[in-house]
Amino acid sequence: MPSSGTEPSQPRVYISRERIRQRVAELGREIERDHSQAPLVLLGVLKGSFIFLADLARAIEHPLRVEFLGVQSYGNETKSSGAVQITLDVTAPVEGCDVIIVEDIVDTGLTADFLMQQLTARRARSVRLCSLLHKPAGARREVHIDYLGFTIDDVFVVGYGLDHAQQYRNLPDICVIGA
Ligand code: IMP
Ligand code: MG
Repeated sequence: MPSSGTEPSQPRVYISRERIRQRVAELGREIERDHSQAPLVLLGVLKGSFIFLADLARAIEHPLRVEFLGVQSYGNETKSSGAVQITLDVTAPVEGCDVIIVEDIVDTGLTADFLMQQLTARRARSVRLCSLLHKPAGARREVHIDYLGFTIDDVFVVGYGLDHAQQYRNLPDICVIGA
C-alpha cells in the first residue's frame, strides 16, 4: 500500500539483538570477576530495565538477589525538573550487600545520581551502577557508570525494555523512531 506520509515511521534497528546478547554476556563476566564476597543484589529500576535485568541475571553465575525500585522524575515529557522520588521500594534491606543498580539508560544522570546517594545512605557494602545505555549528550550530572553496555548518540531509542509513551518495550532490538 502506498504511504500517505502521515503515519509514524517504523522503528529502525539501532543496536541489534545479537550485539545486545554478546555485550550482556560480557557484562555478566565483568560483574562475576568483581564480586565474590558479600551477597550480591541486582537492583532493577522500573520499568525500563526489566528485560535487560532478566538477561543480565542469567549471564551471572554467582548467587544473587533481585530487587526492583520504581522511580518517578518530575517535569514534562522531555525536560526533567531534577526532582526524583521513589514510587516502589525494595522488599528486603540492602545493608551489607554489594548492590548493582541496573538502569536502562543514563541520560541526564539525575535518576542515577539520586539512586547512588539513596543506596549509599542505606549502608550497602558497595553500590555500583550498571547501565545498558549512556547518552552523554544529555548529561546534567556527572555519574560514573561501572558497567556500561553501549554509548549512544543523541537519539531517542525504544525497545528491549525502553518505551515511548509506554509503547515499544517488547521490541527485541534497540531501535530509533522518528525521522
Ligand atoms: P535520566 O535523565 O538519566 O534521569 O534518565 C531517566 C529516564 O529517562 C531513563 O531511565 C529512561 O527511562 C528515560 N529515557 C531517557 N532517554 C531515553 C530514550 O532515548 N528512550 C527511552 N527512554 C529514555
Ligand atoms: Mg528508566
